[in-house]
Amino acid sequence: MVATLETDVSGWTTAPTDFPGSPLSQAIKQPMMLGVFLNFQDIRHSTLPTTSTWTYDYNAEIVKLADRLGFEIVFSRTQWLPKGGYDGEASIDSFIGVAAFAPITKRILLISTIHVLYGPWHPLHLAKYGATLDHISKGRWGINIVTGHRAIEHEMFGWDRIEHDHRYEMTGEFFDVVKRLWSEDENLSAASQYGTWKIKDGYITPKPLYGRPVLVNATGSDAGIKFAAQYSDLVFITSPGGAHIDSALETLPAHTARIKRAALANGREIKTLINPTIVSRETEREALAYADAIVENKIPPNVVGFQSYDSDAHAWRGRKDPTHKQGLGLGGNIEIIGSPEQVVDQLVALKKAGIDGVQLGFYDFLPDLEFFGDRILPLMKQAGLRL
Ligand SMILES: Cc1cc2nc3c(=O)[nH]c(=O)nc-3n(C[C@H](O)[C@H](O)[C@H](O)COP(=O)(O)O)c2cc1C
Repeated sequence: MVATLETDVSGWTTAPTDFPGSPLSQAIKQPMMLGVFLNFQDIRHSTLPTTSTWTYDYNAEIVKLADRLGFEIVFSRTQWLPKGGYDGEASIDSFIGVAAFAPITKRILLISTIHVLYGPWHPLHLAKYGATLDHISKGRWGINIVTGHRAIEHEMFGWDRIEHDHRYEMTGEFFDVVKRLWSEDENLSAASQYGTWKIKDGYITPKPLYGRPVLVNATGSDAGIKFAAQYSDLVFITSPGGAHIDSALETLPAHTARIKRAALANGREIKTLINPTIVSRETEREALAYADAIVENKIPPNVVGFQSYDSDAHAWRGRKDPTHKQGLGLGGNIEIIGSPEQVVDQLVALKKAGIDGVQLGFYDFLPDLEFFGDRILPLMKQAGLRL
């Protein structure tokens, strides 16, 4: 029989949250999920000495510690920049790098950031690789779907940057068919209405263990929120205000409520994550001194390469609004500075503002994460943020 190529590729599929035993269902039980936001690339905000570095081995130590501490999520940024684009020269890929944590971890969700429009990827590739990683990780692997906001990255792949909202339409169509490949038990023939891919009698087996891998996207725009409400289990958001915690706490409640309402309108539930940089020491005075030392040794922004490229992202627009309080430029979407007690107070306030999980970043990652595990995590439990 000759297969017909469908252009309406949308279909209904199950999600990991439909399975009580899935790693995602376990993770979202936490009142506040904990994650690490890794840097597989040199990010240099300051010349203050730090052990932080881009290597797989360094990041593997962080992830093993986070897994031991009971964290739920690991996630890394990833970019495609020309020579000189990274703060240092090195950057390893997040798809491969995060997936490669599967054999050295037990519980933590492994979320690979993937630019799904670059290439372009073929849906069969992502469906097959995803099903493979799902089995290797026992349902812990997932995708942070990014569509590419920098013109220079699209140009590297051979075209002009695709229009902002259209990127999400193309990505929706792509995941409609990938989800069908993950779930349907017959050969599938389909074609992109945008002409980017075709499938004739495509079939993927084994199927993922819990319906499909975990889906996440990182956004602040209307089109990105609409996409998240339809496809994502978790959404990485930014403060619509500035990076200062006061400004974040003022602007987040309306933002998180709007995102959750959008998902509910589709009969879905979505969890919100944000990535703070945490600067903590035993006392407030010491924590402020640490933050000051980072800032005093700051590298001027024009020396920092990757932030200087043209971007059409909406997610960080609040940072240009002079009515919002900005942070110290420590690298996170928001900044949490203080003694362990003060850090937990700010995390409690974020929970009240509708945040379901934090993807943590630290200036000196490994020792600062150890401090977090020793001094802050027990207080989170006392405050009811952790089971
Ligand atoms: C927390 C967070 C992490 C992100 N990480 C990446 C990344 O690693 N690589 C990338 O190209 N874009 C990344 N982005 C950018 C998003 O993929 C997206 O392009 C950007 O938020 C613009 O989308 P928007 O206009 O819908 O907000 C990230 C965004 C957020 C909020």
